Amino acid sequence: MMETLEAIFTRRSIRKFTGQEVPETIVETLLKAAMYAPSAKNEQPWHFVVIRRRATLDEIQKFHPYSKMLAQAQLAILVCGDEKQEKSPGYWVIDCAAATENILLAAHGLGLGAVWLGIHPRLERVDLIIKLFDLPVHIHPHSMVALGWPAEIPSQPERFLPERIHHEKW
Ligand SMILES: Cc1cc2nc3c(=O)[nH]c(=O)nc-3n(C[C@H](O)[C@H](O)[C@H](O)COP(=O)(O)O)c2cc1C
Repeated sequence: MMETLEAIFTRRSIRKFTGQEVPETIVETLLKAAMYAPSAKNEQPWHFVVIRRRATLDEIQKFHPYSKMLAQAQLAILVCGDEKQEKSPGYWVIDCAAATENILLAAHGLGLGAVWLGIHPRLERVDLIIKLFDLPVHIHPHSMVALGWPAEIPSQPERFLPERIHHEKW
């Protein structure tokens, strides 16, 4: 397992995967990492749908324009926000983003490859995901993470931009 800062600095989106199986125990660790994300008022307003069925992974590619990597992915995790868990309306979007990032970092730390697929706020994707997964009315699809063992080595460009940092005032 990687050290925290190393995982943060070396995580990149992986869109090419080997065909090797991802064990259920690892998937559970990713979901646990997601559930340890911070959330507004600690409401933890999330649910996760684990998708391994090939037919479903292929169906998503028909309407999601940037999801072709699902053809090679071993699985995907759909991150959803639960309106009923919220006392602060609207924070599910931010909370689910934190959970999604935790999945990405945990996956990378375990040597897996992963990429975030955007769903919210693209209504056409939201509607089709709701239908495909029979989501109840209070459950909002937020993002999806495609996962598998990496079959590419991404570059590591410098991203630290001192000019984006402001001290005390703008
Ligand atoms: C909100 C959000 C939506 C994204 N949607 C997609 C997507 O639909 N398909 C995809 O291949 N990558 C998607 N990405 C991944 C970004 O393209 C990627 O994070 C960005 O290019 C930076 O590269 P890195 O992840 O390697 O650091 C998304 C990332 C975020 C944060």
